[in-house]
Amino acid sequence: MTRILVTGAAGYIGSHTCVALLNAGYDVVGVDNFINSSSSVYKSIESITGKRMRIFDIDCRTDFDVPEKVDAIIHFAALKSVGDSVAFPVKYYDNNVLSTVKVMDVANRHRAPVVFSSSACVYGDKTLRPVTESNNLCPINPYGETKMIGEQIIRNISNRLGLNYANLRYFNPIGSHASGLLGDISTTNLMPHIIKGATGGCLQVFGDDYQTSDGYCVRDYVHVEDIADAHVKTVEYVLSNGSIDAMNLGTGYGTSVVELINLFEQANLKKVNYEVVGRRDGDAPVLVADVKLMKETLGFSCDRTLLNACESSYKFYGANQCK
Ligand code: NAD
Ligand code: WQD
Repeated sequence: MTRILVTGAAGYIGSHTCVALLNAGYDVVGVDNFINSSSSVYKSIESITGKRMRIFDIDCRTDFDVPEKVDAIIHFAALKSVGDSVAFPVKYYDNNVLSTVKVMDVANRHRAPVVFSSSACVYGDKTLRPVTESNNLCPINPYGETKMIGEQIIRNISNRLGLNYANLRYFNPIGSHASGLLGDISTTNLMPHIIKGATGGCLQVFGDDYQTSDGYCVRDYVHVEDIADAHVKTVEYVLSNGSIDAMNLGTGYGTSVVELINLFEQANLKKVNYEVVGRRDGDAPVLVADVKLMKETLGFSCDRTLLNACESSYKFYGANQCK
């Protein structure tokens, strides 16, 4: 059976991808140090799939390995808060860059291709609409810089070692597994704030004077289960076809902040309390993926609905409140 090593396996996207890999018949080995997750996530993965994966409590910045030969690696493990990275740049370079170098050492030992979690934030705030992979890379915060450097590490070392690789640039993943058992515990992105606005708090909407159709910022929100499925397709690609130098993962459609709020209200029959405040520094008015390369390379598109993403996010929130 083809065996995939997943770093950051207990995290938001990692856990959904483990489910997708196990459901697709892969053997999965998970590595995480739980700096932003809990080991209980593995029980949820097991109860969703009815399958076991081998797990290791490992910090990827160390010289590490796993006992059994792996055929491919998906490297999710990273710190991901933009604001935190501005306050603590060294922490972000130390964690995200060093772990990527160490993962390449494991890849070399196993002769395994690596799929790397990059981000739309490598494009910065000045982008074409929609943004293609050939757009200039100009990250505007240390987190984004570690992703741009991570791509270079993956590309340069893989080419030297003669290994396949894929750098995947995710746009705005939202949503949860339909079971409500897996989801995002972070509070830095828009969806947790929408939930706050629906559960007694107040969402602050950053800016209503952008040159967009309704004045609010527009993003390419993409269901996390589609992102997970795209990883299964990408693993198949790097195992049999070749490398993907850089590829956007998104829907190709833009949704404004208030449009997403409206979808959330419709999906969950809950009112979201919000107030408009000033623009947030560094926000691009519109960031939407050109997904031509993804469709052509993987023969895949991210088709799950935002209504579904809003519903499952709220279900995960409810399940977590009950714990
Ligand atoms: P997450 O924080 O939920 O998951 C990351 C996991 O990696 C966590 O379980 C954390 O404990 C683990 N981890 C971090 N540093 C580690 C280390 N040194 N050793 C071992 N484990 C470590 O984040 P996520 O949203 O699942 O993101 C996964 C990847 O996707 C990250 O690389 C992130 O930068 C990238 N990404 C995320 C988004 C997003 O909006 N969620 C968008 C673009 C890219
Ligand atoms: C989305 C929209 C805000 C919170 C970040 C990273 C990117 C990637 C995804 C990891 C924006 C608005 C938000 C709030 C708001 N992550 N907003 N009120 O900034 O597009 O991307 O997460 O790689 O790299 O930069 O995502 O969810 O923070 O914001 O109005 O309380 O919601 O202005 O338009 P962003 P986000």
